[in-house]
Amino acid sequence: MKPTALVAGNWKMNGLASSQAELEALAAMLKEGGKAACDVLICPPFTLVSAFATAGYTGIAIGAQDCHTAASGAHTGDISVEMLRDAGASYVIVGHSERRADHAETDALVAQKAAAVLGAGLKAIVCVGETEAERDAGRTLEVVLSQIGQSLPDAATAENTIVAYEPVWAIGTGRTPTVEDVAEVHTAIRKSLVERFGDAGEGFAILYGGSVKPSNAAELMAAANVNGALVGGASLKAADFNGIIDAYR
Ligand code: PGA
Repeated sequence: MKPTALVAGNWKMNGLASSQAELEALAAMLKEGGKAACDVLICPPFTLVSAFATAGYTGIAIGAQDCHTAASGAHTGDISVEMLRDAGASYVIVGHSERRADHAETDALVAQKAAAVLGAGLKAIVCVGETEAERDAGRTLEVVLSQIGQSLPDAATAENTIVAYEPVWAIGTGRTPTVEDVAEVHTAIRKSLVERFGDAGEGFAILYGGSVKPSNAAELMAAANVNGALVGGASLKAADFNGIIDAYR
């Protein structure tokens, strides 16, 4: 099975009520530009999930950027997948490097969060990626494949789980690996998915993330085993996000 490409926007801790107008503009642009040959997702902050999900935009799924492992309980400040599903989210990003770094999230916790997402019937986007020091030490594949092995729950399938390769040093920096380097990592991830999940491993979408913008999207998206993008900064501007989706028009 060939993976369905996905272009996903991660708004991070950005977006107030006025962002609604921005998404409306994005929806209009998508309509004008014709149907993209990829799935399109926006993951706004929790406070906007419900408003975006109920706004009735066609062609754009809404997701969240994190979740707790439990369905409910005494976890002050956390949010459960059930709550996100209730608010209209259909995807949850787990294991983003900013969560791993700022909140000391381990592979084991990321796998538990992903399992919670899948258990609630939502799709998980599981993020992995090496730091600059790890790349400089020649440890990129070792680090990424270890994260893949330990962050994906056994319940992962090509239908419910998306992998996002995001080199930590490329996030928000304007720097990207070469297309060859991206293809090498994605192909190694593909191989490890096939080793673990058999032929079904061919069907998992593997997104590239880290400083994707309209000017580099087409060449990055054309690299071997790249099935879409996870976009941070450029997903906050309709024209930029739309320009990235153009890689699939
Ligand atoms: P960036 O972020 O596109 O701003 O580099 C990507 C991400 O963190 O998902």
